[in-house]
Amino acid sequence: MAKVICVTNQKGGVGKTTTAVNLAFYLAKDKKRTLLIDFDPQGNATSGLGIEKTDTKALGLTMTEVLLGTAPLASVIRPTKYKHFDLAPATPELANAEVEITGMQRKFVRLRDAIRTIESNYDYIIIDSPPSLSLLTVNGMIASNYLLLPVQTEFYALEGVAQLLESMKLVMKQANPNLRLLGVVATMYDKRTSLSAQVYNEIKKYFKQLTFKTTIPRNVRVAEAPSHGVPIGAYDKFSKGAKAYKELTKEIEERTK
Ligand SMILES: Nc1ncnc2c1ncn2[C@@H]1O[C@H](COP(=O)(O)OP(=O)(O)OP(=O)(O)O)[C@@H](O)[C@H]1O
Ligand SMILES: [Mg+2]
Repeated sequence: MAKVICVTNQKGGVGKTTTAVNLAFYLAKDKKRTLLIDFDPQGNATSGLGIEKTDTKALGLTMTEVLLGTAPLASVIRPTKYKHFDLAPATPELANAEVEITGMQRKFVRLRDAIRTIESNYDYIIIDSPPSLSLLTVNGMIASNYLLLPVQTEFYALEGVAQLLESMKLVMKQANPNLRLLGVVATMYDKRTSLSAQVYNEIKKYFKQLTFKTTIPRNVRVAEAPSHGVPIGAYDKFSKGAKAYKELTKEIEERTK
């Protein structure tokens, strides 16, 4: 049975997509059969893997149809350039689908039900979620075994985290009692500033052993990689960012054993 990990934080720009793409890349590199589900209408995970998200015709079926229930997840999944690494892409139309299903039945469990049809094909399924506590994010939480929370080492880093944990508790109570917090990863860590260290200590105080030892450094190579449509491990495997994501992946494999 696949381990399903939802990368989430309703705060924008904290490194969710970067973490989802690169975790998936290194899991696959470690021969784990991995599916990355782009469940954000921004489609950043899709374009970050070199797929043109605005050319909807060429793209064919996406997570929009899966959410609407008009196509099975299996028909949306495609291989990436990397062995063991598949992608279920998203386009901005996913936002319309989210509105469309608002009044429909079983609107919260659609992703879970879709995943159940394919999960035996994978060791890991990684879900990238949008920066909101929306219907999409709740679908992601209900469909998952674990939440992975990236927190940017910046001012207000923990803002909104309490609310996120509340939502998680609610989901556990109402729909998915097996959900757990896999861990918190500090992103865009800048070792030249004391702020990053301060925030990392704050995270450790709050989350204790749930805080990953690996921190993801602020690294220009990481920021460049998506514009070339490749994960950092393929763009510059010797960069600090690549090494950090490789390390983080090891910690995650260990925690999900
Ligand atoms: N370690 C890093 N070093 C430098 N830049 C980074 C790093 N991680 C992410 N970035 C850049 O920061 C921006 C935000 O990252 P990302 O898209 O992963 O965040 P997000 O949480 O998915 O954002 P959103 O909430 O909009 O979905 C992107 O431009 C990304 O390339
Ligand atoms: Mg994102």
